Amino acid sequence: MNLTNAEIAGATSCIVTGDPGRVERIARSEAFVNPHFLVESREFCSWLAYAEGKPVLITSTGIGGPSLAIAVEELAMLGVKTFLRVGTCGAIQPNIHVSDLVITTGGVRLEGTSSHYAPLEYPAVAHHEVLLALITSAKALNKVHHVGVTCSSDTFYPGQERYDTYSKYVPRRFQGSTEEWRQLHVLNYEMEASTLLTLCSVFGLRGGCVCGTVVNRTRSEQINTELVSTAEGNAIQVATHALASLCLYFSFR
Ligand code: URA
Repeated sequence: MNLTNAEIAGATSCIVTGDPGRVERIARSEAFVNPHFLVESREFCSWLAYAEGKPVLITSTGIGGPSLAIAVEELAMLGVKTFLRVGTCGAIQPNIHVSDLVITTGGVRLEGTSSHYAPLEYPAVAHHEVLLALITSAKALNKVHHVGVTCSSDTFYPGQERYDTYSKYVPRRFQGSTEEWRQLHVLNYEMEASTLLTLCSVFGLRGGCVCGTVVNRTRSEQINTELVSTAEGNAIQVATHALASLCLYFSFR
């Protein structure tokens, strides 16, 4: 990632997001002051800002588990202890609307990266204080939010049972999987939460995740690009508010 100890100024908290293009927007959010660009290399773009007088990193991880794991490894080695993911997701429960937030309690590990760190029996769970901060912030900011289990898939298409693809074919393993996850009260699909939460638990660090809903798969397969920015904005507001409150109240190292 090409980040040094000097550049991160002792930051022990990091907001991670998939899209490098979203990093500056997060760094410039109302909850933070003095945002400035640090470095960009491949999918990893990093900015530094301050919340409640404490340095906070904002870093992109690219799409999926493998590149996210590189970021978490290297940031942990630089001393980062708290990782809060801000992303977008597809809802699979009918009561979750586009631009609503989903706060993840735990992840279905429908990806390969986390199995390089812990056997599949190991749970991908959010850190309790980060989870509490996210829920409290969503309430304080009056954002519609849903709290529960997220399915993190290695693929956007077959693993999330999308048929609007080149082949139109979904392997048998995934046919009917969305209905099964729905019956099991899984709230949403995205691609990174379970890797992040597994790695954080394995390393004894703190992880959490909030996503803005950009599509409801029970109603449509079309992602409305105009609403993506609203969904992202809601997730960014809650995540940055939560991180600032963690800096303030929990005296996070
Ligand atoms: N990200 C995903 O992984 N899936 C969606 O449906 C939307 C965003």
